[in-house]
Amino acid sequence: MTTPIENAPKRRDLRIGWWREARFGMFIHWGLYAIPAGVWKGRNIPGIGEWIMYRARIPIREYEPLARRFNPVRFDAREWVQIAKEAGMKWIVITAKHHDGFCMFDTKLTDYNIVKATPFGRDPLKELANACQEAGIRLGFYYSQTLDWHHPNGMGNDWDYEPAQQDFTSYLRGYVKPQLRELLTNYGPVAVIWFDIGTPTPELARELRDWVRQLQPDTLISGRIVSRQWATGRWGAGLSDYRSMGDNEIPDHIVEGDWETPATINDTWGYKSYDHNWKSTGNLIHKLVDIVSKGGNYLLNVGPTAEGVIPEPSVERLRGMGTWLKVNGESIYGTTASPIGMPEWGRCTAKLGKRYLHVFAWPWEGILEVSGIQKRVKRAYLLADPSRGDLTVRQEGGSLYLSGLPEMALDPIDTVIVLDVEE
Ligand code: GLC
Repeated sequence: MTTPIENAPKRRDLRIGWWREARFGMFIHWGLYAIPAGVWKGRNIPGIGEWIMYRARIPIREYEPLARRFNPVRFDAREWVQIAKEAGMKWIVITAKHHDGFCMFDTKLTDYNIVKATPFGRDPLKELANACQEAGIRLGFYYSQTLDWHHPNGMGNDWDYEPAQQDFTSYLRGYVKPQLRELLTNYGPVAVIWFDIGTPTPELARELRDWVRQLQPDTLISGRIVSRQWATGRWGAGLSDYRSMGDNEIPDHIVEGDWETPATINDTWGYKSYDHNWKSTGNLIHKLVDIVSKGGNYLLNVGPTAEGVIPEPSVERLRGMGTWLKVNGESIYGTTASPIGMPEWGRCTAKLGKRYLHVFAWPWEGILEVSGIQKRVKRAYLLADPSRGDLTVRQEGGSLYLSGLPEMALDPIDTVIVLDVEE
């Protein structure tokens, strides 16, 4: 078994260093559910797309044949990785197995997998692993360790199985663990195993954690290896590497420690043909900045179609975020939470010797008042265009007054002012 040292705080600091810097990652929910895309037998099924089997209580014998129709001929791993890269995302997490139990990778443990059961016959995770390696992006795997609506001993399917007769431990030991071994052996370095919804008991969660550590000591383990109630409780600590917030949950205050918000661009994770409720690019940039200013990471989801295409509205928004990050990335990557709370004009991020003022609401008077900056400010300038020269700095009491601002924001979504501070 693993040495306890793998779980020691220092070891954890080393393991999670890259993630603390990375700040912005891509989540990909892709599976058979992209075929019905939210519609079953002519009925729109409410809720998130990847839950359709559950929401419509689709019997296994009806859901399973979807595999024979799964042929994502337009899938191009390099293209997906390129989209992530151009968006400024530093790592990708893709569904290896979601709750429906279908395996999106080559596995010896079941024929219910993309290589054996579909006309496609390829292993997209392998192709993504290669493309990520080429592009210098990290790759991690979402793995549904508890819910499995297909496996006779997985949890959650009470329309095909009799829960009282299921043996979860045998599923975990005889299926989940060997599959994790495949994922952690056959795809090179794995950035994270993204467990979801909690493991039924602390003992089993610990067993899974130790298993992952033993196979790849540097792989991060997501907060949802434990359920939400337990995550902050006594035994939650130490089982995961970081805390996962609820879906789309952004805390309203600065949160200590390592944490992440998994989030959607529209209202579903898995592709739904009729979900057009896309957040605007500006809104997504504000969310990224908001989360980073509170100390967290943003894992933003795309739900590719059954053909293997990331929906164009998502691509468009990600491109917009990437354009903003190309100019303003210094104020996001490698920064830490705001030392001045949450000002009403925007947000603040920080690095040693630097404060980044993210101005969402540009002051029309040409002066910005900032409270809470304790350090002496040596210089202030616009990140997008330092050649415009320095802003005028006046510090008085606890307040900082910046003047000489351009009349209009350089970027109406978020113009960043950099402060060089003495520290
Ligand atoms: C939820 C859902 C799941 C989704 C996940 C993403 O727990 O069960 O479908 O994958 O959130 O954060």
